Amino acid sequence: RDRHGDAGHSEKFVVVGHRGASGYRPEHTLASYELAARMGADYIEPDLVITKDGVLVARHEPEIGGTTDVAQRPEFADRKTTKTVDGRRVTGWFAEDFTLAELKTLRAVERIPDLRPDNTIYDGRFEVPTFQEIVNLSKRLSRELGRTVGLYIETKHPTYFADQGLALEPRLVEALTRNGLNRPGAKVYVQSFEVSNLKELDKRLRVPLVQLVSGSGAPYDFVRSGDPRTYDDLATPEGLAEIAGYAEGLGPVKDRIIPRNADGTLGEPTTLVDDAHRAGLAVHPWTFRAENAFLPTDLRSSDDPGAWGDIFAEYEAFLATGIDGV
Ligand code: G3P
Ligand code: CA
Repeated sequence: RDRHGDAGHSEKFVVVGHRGASGYRPEHTLASYELAARMGADYIEPDLVITKDGVLVARHEPEIGGTTDVAQRPEFADRKTTKTVDGRRVTGWFAEDFTLAELKTLRAVERIPDLRPDNTIYDGRFEVPTFQEIVNLSKRLSRELGRTVGLYIETKHPTYFADQGLALEPRLVEALTRNGLNRPGAKVYVQSFEVSNLKELDKRLRVPLVQLVSGSGAPYDFVRSGDPRTYDDLATPEGLAEIAGYAEGLGPVKDRIIPRNADGTLGEPTTLVDDAHRAGLAVHPWTFRAENAFLPTDLRSSDDPGAWGDIFAEYEAFLATGIDGV
């Protein structure tokens, strides 16, 4: 497909800094993204949600209580509420209930202070970034580092936001187009757990798309429309052929590539990488982070690479399966 440009299946192995260098700085902050790029990531990965006034901002979830200081802000105490997000009841504060100006008064905090106590020194220092600020950062870092720092964007809960009159897709298309990034070779991917969202973006974007595949359950747009298929169905050769009709890549949870044994050790690889390649899809599993590995708790927050030996051993096993990036 012509929009591969220098991304997609033909690109060299890609390294994605999920949520930025999120083991070292509060996730989804400009500081986290910048550190990821300086550590060598080919792409930084903004998960996008949306504010009350329709601005794309980076948070992993609409609920922002765990990654900002909003719970310590008395003026926003009455914004705490309970909502249903993709069928699950969630209590907290939600990005779409704050204007951008309000959100900008908040400060990011470490999401997992128990596992990363050293990182709490950064609590209160960084804002929630807009997508435009992230684009600007990637351009500045590209100039400074002499290589393009790519954007590996995720649209979060698109049906949930559309239900509230806050469609993500047109805003993302407009932003990428306005920044000259809606073109093959722009070094941009767009990924999503939902299918209809990616099919819609396929009509309007010229950058490669990636279908995320979770370990269980079903895309929420399938649930809403009564489509009985699950992520297991998407991971079959038939499902992969359908994905190849609108996307260039597959983003499976890494356990779908090498399942774990009952004792936590890695088992035998499945045929998913080969099946996806046969369908013409690149494979970028997620996520290689200490919190996602079977490491003793006291090692998970360590900055010492020697303490992360198990992660690197796992990484080698995944490389041997022929994946195209992590
Ligand atoms: O979110 C899906 C995939 O991109 C995993 O990465 O860091 O967002 O959990 P992360
Ligand atoms: Ca993500």
